[in-house]
Amino acid sequence: MSGANFDRLHVFLDIATEAALEGGAVLKSYWGKLDEIEEKGRPGDLVTAADKASEAKVLEVLQRHVPDHGILAEESGNLGNSASPYLWAIDPLDGTTNYTHQYPVFAVSIGLLVDGFPQVGVVYNPIRNELFRAAKGLGATRNRVPIRVSTIDSLDRSLLVTGFAYDRHDTEDNNYAEFCYLTHLTQGVRRGGSASLDLADVACGRIDGYWERGLSPWDIAAGIVLVEEAGGLVTAYNRSPLDLDSGRLLATNGQLHDELSDRLCEVSPLDRLPGIGHLRHRSPV
Ligand code: IPD
Ligand code: CA
Ligand code: CA
Repeated sequence: MSGANFDRLHVFLDIATEAALEGGAVLKSYWGKLDEIEEKGRPGDLVTAADKASEAKVLEVLQRHVPDHGILAEESGNLGNSASPYLWAIDPLDGTTNYTHQYPVFAVSIGLLVDGFPQVGVVYNPIRNELFRAAKGLGATRNRVPIRVSTIDSLDRSLLVTGFAYDRHDTEDNNYAEFCYLTHLTQGVRRGGSASLDLADVACGRIDGYWERGLSPWDIAAGIVLVEEAGGLVTAYNRSPLDLDSGRLLATNGQLHDELSDRLCEVSPLDRLPGIGHLRHRSPV
């Protein structure tokens, strides 16, 4: 990559940082003070005044600096210039369920895709005051100190993280079987509740691998850059190149990648527990 490109990514990284810090300050101001929590459609898929206010602040910062770029924001959808090679993927509050329960694991996640590929990522948890930043070729940092993935090279010594999408009650492809199997084969599988922080945890070596299905580009665009720039690997479950729109991703420290991919791919649909949507959606008597 040329010097001019590095300079440009630096500028975008700083813009993403400003937006994440400002969005994070908004989340902190609402912390513990929410009086209304709505469901967006699926049971459990929540949105609050904090999500909306954080997103408004992030959009304001982007509008000020890069008014000619495209935007994909969780609460507002597609905005801006759809012909631009630059697309900002924004989750103004990743970990809303945690947030509403005052469980301090949530973040603002801001990724920049260039021609469809994640190139800049910032993930900020304002309660723990952790700021993760990365840009293609520029490395990854936590609170401005360089980070690297872990060196664990076998599943039996690993700690993993995963998550369960909001459609889990309605589909057999709900990740429960994968979770049970990997729990059996490792030192543990955590469920963090914030995909962007799960990826940040892989990037800084606290967690050795992460997989999940049912994700959206705004959940993962920033975190992908963090993991790759910290020396890790991000692909589809079967190690083919990642398709951001598939919603399915495997991120590891690199050393565990093949073993985790093989184990994930051998979970058979027959092992899967059926969805329980028919029970949850019964009308009250
Ligand atoms: C959710 C979180 C969670 C993941 C869900 C996401 P939200 O995002 O990242 O960890 O399991 O699939 O939708 O709704 O809190 O922004
Ligand atoms: Ca999210
Ligand atoms: Ca969100």
